[in-house]
Amino acid sequence: MGKLKLKKRARNIILISVILLLFLSIGISSGIKAYKQKEYEKTYEYKLTNIGYTLDDTKKILDKFKEKEIEYLLNNKKDDLYLNLISEKYFIYDKFYDYLEYYNKNKGIDLRSIIEIVNTNRDKEYYSETYDTDISKGYLMLTNKYYHLNNEYTPNNLVTFSTTYAWGDYGSKQVTKDTYEAYMNMWNASHEAGYYLMVSSAYRDFEHQQSVYDDYKKRQGEKYADIIAARPGFSEHQTGYSLDIFEKGYTQKTFQDSDSYKWLQENAYKYGFIERYPKDKEKITGYTFESWHYRYVGVEAATYIKNNHITFDEYYAYFVK
Ligand code: DAL
Ligand code: ZN
Repeated sequence: MGKLKLKKRARNIILISVILLLFLSIGISSGIKAYKQKEYEKTYEYKLTNIGYTLDDTKKILDKFKEKEIEYLLNNKKDDLYLNLISEKYFIYDKFYDYLEYYNKNKGIDLRSIIEIVNTNRDKEYYSETYDTDISKGYLMLTNKYYHLNNEYTPNNLVTFSTTYAWGDYGSKQVTKDTYEAYMNMWNASHEAGYYLMVSSAYRDFEHQQSVYDDYKKRQGEKYADIIAARPGFSEHQTGYSLDIFEKGYTQKTFQDSDSYKWLQENAYKYGFIERYPKDKEKITGYTFESWHYRYVGVEAATYIKNNHITFDEYYAYFVK
């Protein structure tokens, strides 16, 4: 065998090896590709985009939902309703099915309202389903027509207002220490602005609230009593974080026309207080407008509530609970 022949043979072997390697690597890479595709097809991203959601929608869904809700979406046709719900500012993950139920029973209601109603439990009748107030939340505890304290609950550290700050011939004049200190700061600022605020009622124990409520009920019936006063256990006055105030020279009724009421509307939040039952929120709070009732919730919550024009009930559902 000549040298030339050997060289040719070697070259052929190399060529064949290269070709084989090439095929092998193509085979391997397409195998990897196929495997990857199969794996991808198992992901929620693939499954969701497969029924029509865009990649952006999918990201939003995966960000907000856990397995159970994603499976729910996959078992249903693509629907913008879900995406619109998720995009609502106060959407709460745990309430997804409640939103859907309310939406289906009340077609035509805008989503913002559905979120607001469900978040504040108003998809259930007042007092029809009630829960214990979580007192560990301190000044952020909630009492309303769904959340209540037991008949023995009494706040710690109650401080009594002197008659310089509270009407002598009205009811209770006690609030918690933190409420008292914040109130005195507010009182001083309001006094500097030229006003003289007086407390007419503050902490009320269970029995006291019972008598307030029963009184309205006896005189004007249950329906009326329920929009004016809380049933015992359900009043904020039992928390020690609430007080009724109005300015000297006014009555509870005329206070809403005073400049001091306007001052409170603008400034109370700086001291951690909110107007708890505003005029335009009666449907949410379940109480008629009370220009005199203020609640201590701390500066952070009060500032948010004022700036975003929401009620404490909504704030609690989204930020505290
Ligand atoms: N007036 C308020 C709602 C109360 O009774 O607590
Ligand atoms: Zn009150």
